[in-house]
Amino acid sequence: MSYTYPHQHLLGIEDLSKDDINNILSKCEEYVELNRQKDKKRPILKGRTLINLFFEDSTRTRTSFELAGKRLGADVINMNVKSMAISKGETLIDTASTINAMHPDFISVRHSESGAAMLLAEKVKCKVINAGDGWHEHPTQALLDALTIKRRCEKDFKDMTVAICGDVMHSRVARSNILLLKKMGAKVRLIAPPTLMPIAIESYGVETYTSLEEGIKDVDVIMMLRIQQERMSGNFFPSEREYFYLYGLTYEKLELAKENVFVMHPGPINRGLEISSDLADDINKSVILDQVEMGVAVRQAILDLMA
Ligand code: NCD
Repeated sequence: MSYTYPHQHLLGIEDLSKDDINNILSKCEEYVELNRQKDKKRPILKGRTLINLFFEDSTRTRTSFELAGKRLGADVINMNVKSMAISKGETLIDTASTINAMHPDFISVRHSESGAAMLLAEKVKCKVINAGDGWHEHPTQALLDALTIKRRCEKDFKDMTVAICGDVMHSRVARSNILLLKKMGAKVRLIAPPTLMPIAIESYGVETYTSLEEGIKDVDVIMMLRIQQERMSGNFFPSEREYFYLYGLTYEKLELAKENVFVMHPGPINRGLEISSDLADDINKSVILDQVEMGVAVRQAILDLMA
């Protein structure tokens, strides 16, 4: 493969071309294979340092960056800033200058403010990977979702329809996925209650639905989103019971979709709110754990290509 990653950072899907996405996804395949072997090390980042700078909680994303860095031989430091500097009043810029002085080679950053990754990238000398900034973008999630879809669905992206359902408004996962899927030529439908549908989202070239039953008809993939309570001020739906009744995915509603449709969720799942527990755990229908597996390979591929 004679592809060179042409960017200094990975801040969003917005900056990637279709060619970048295709090349990253092919690179991932090598790591999916490697991660299934007994010896998972390929020490191409020996001597380099990766700092995982997380200002928000995370299980999957942080762990997979850590595993990816370690399997590539880097020294990996996890900084959970919520419990450290920020509680002492240190700003993002101060934290950035402090970390920069330690000469890391990569920083993966998660922050509650949109634009935080870009701000950090301006202040440090190393390469920055956005691990989720506010409502804005979560590029490695969209890449791992694309890898999961590509490996599971026989169709090309351009012949596919993907439904993204739930709290679209507060979701960086939705935004990055919309950008990626549109770049790859897929059709995208958004399904949400009117209160959780972003204004003027149709300008992204998506179709919008307020009915889950209608929205999932004839789609190839259903991507459920978490209700992001921590980003909500006030009530966006009357009750959890009503939300599940209207927008929770169950076997009964899935009957209305195509037979070979499959279900995704970035996690963490609120069982019985976005999706019924039995469906979430059904490995014939749900690829939630495949997404977790692909997450490690994607972060290895990104670190590899950026190095
Ligand atoms: C997502 C996130 O944090 O943006 N989770 C993840 O990275 N696996 C989605 C979410 O929290 O709902």
